[in-house]
Amino acid sequence: MIHGCEHAVTRLRLGIKVHYNNGVSHTRQGREPCIFLPCRFYYTVGIMVEEGALREQILALKEERDAVILAHNYQVDEVQEIADIVGDSLELSRAAASLEHATIVFCGVDFMAETAAILSPEKTVLLPAADACCPMAEMVNAGELEVLCSRFPDAAVVAYVNTTAEVKAVSDICCTSANAVKVVESLSETQVIVVPDRNLARYVARFTTKEIIPWEGYCIVHERFTPEDVRRERALHPSAEVLVHPECRPDVIDCADHVFSTSGMIQHACTSPSGEFIIGTEIGILHGLSRKCPEKRCYPLSNRAICINMKKTDLPKVCAALERMEPQIRVPERTAEPARRAIERMLAVR
Ligand code: 13P
Ligand code: SF4
Repeated sequence: MIHGCEHAVTRLRLGIKVHYNNGVSHTRQGREPCIFLPCRFYYTVGIMVEEGALREQILALKEERDAVILAHNYQVDEVQEIADIVGDSLELSRAAASLEHATIVFCGVDFMAETAAILSPEKTVLLPAADACCPMAEMVNAGELEVLCSRFPDAAVVAYVNTTAEVKAVSDICCTSANAVKVVESLSETQVIVVPDRNLARYVARFTTKEIIPWEGYCIVHERFTPEDVRRERALHPSAEVLVHPECRPDVIDCADHVFSTSGMIQHACTSPSGEFIIGTEIGILHGLSRKCPEKRCYPLSNRAICINMKKTDLPKVCAALERMEPQIRVPERTAEPARRAIERMLAVR
């Protein structure tokens, strides 16, 4: 039995600078990455845990708990490596709805784990990083949305999955970045409220004759990409295709070659005849790209594109979650029931 799951921490990554007073990691208290050892170690106060051993412990606990590990494409490399399924929001929602395991370990942010809990109320859904949230999902609440709906009584309401369960519960249907246009086109209403991402709403409006009423929310990571980023990276990599996420601003989308969900980008890079890509989304996706199409060269549109909430999950937290069967995500049935209708209606759109 290896101890150290509970308080161990991830190694230094993604260029975040941590300054140390001296080179002796074991004298430090609490959660700090250990960068002074030749291979991947985690430590707690006085306890060293080698990453391979941690992985083995996770695999053993997974078996014991009849668990499946789902990870979003933005997760840190070692979490993607231990996951059974790595994907975008739509793929992970479909997996959560169809897998038979008793326990789902969701390596992502809260709305993703909530979606899994809504779809599978009989399963135990664990979110290893309890504080991993999506700031965009917090930009609209159910009460505010109902006020907007009262101004447009004939409009359908499409909730991006990046919303709380309460917002989903007062929406007609959900969507993800992979299916937003199809979802909007599946509706009979000619007016459609899209919450909370204004950029996704405006992207969808390019492909439909319906009147799209956007909520003015945005992703704090994708909002920071600029046309200047695209010009700079194109100048550095003139043969590369520019792929961006629909959460990017319209002026950035105008400069791109293609717009895709995160898994859509990976699929496109793997199948396109192009050999080089500039990737306009969170940089965690570069790991999936290098795994799935190692022969292609992928450059980040900006190396500042880091979602700190997606980086809160690490192997020690996954291990601790499986050991303690916490933190669990549960959605009260009075909210889950209408939210489930909106999510399942989305999953039925093909
Ligand atoms: P995808 O569904 O494309 O993976 O996007 C999720 C997300 O949070 C993007 O910021
Ligand atoms: Fe939310 Fe943006 Fe992070 Fe995605 S990248 S989880 S939309 S804050």
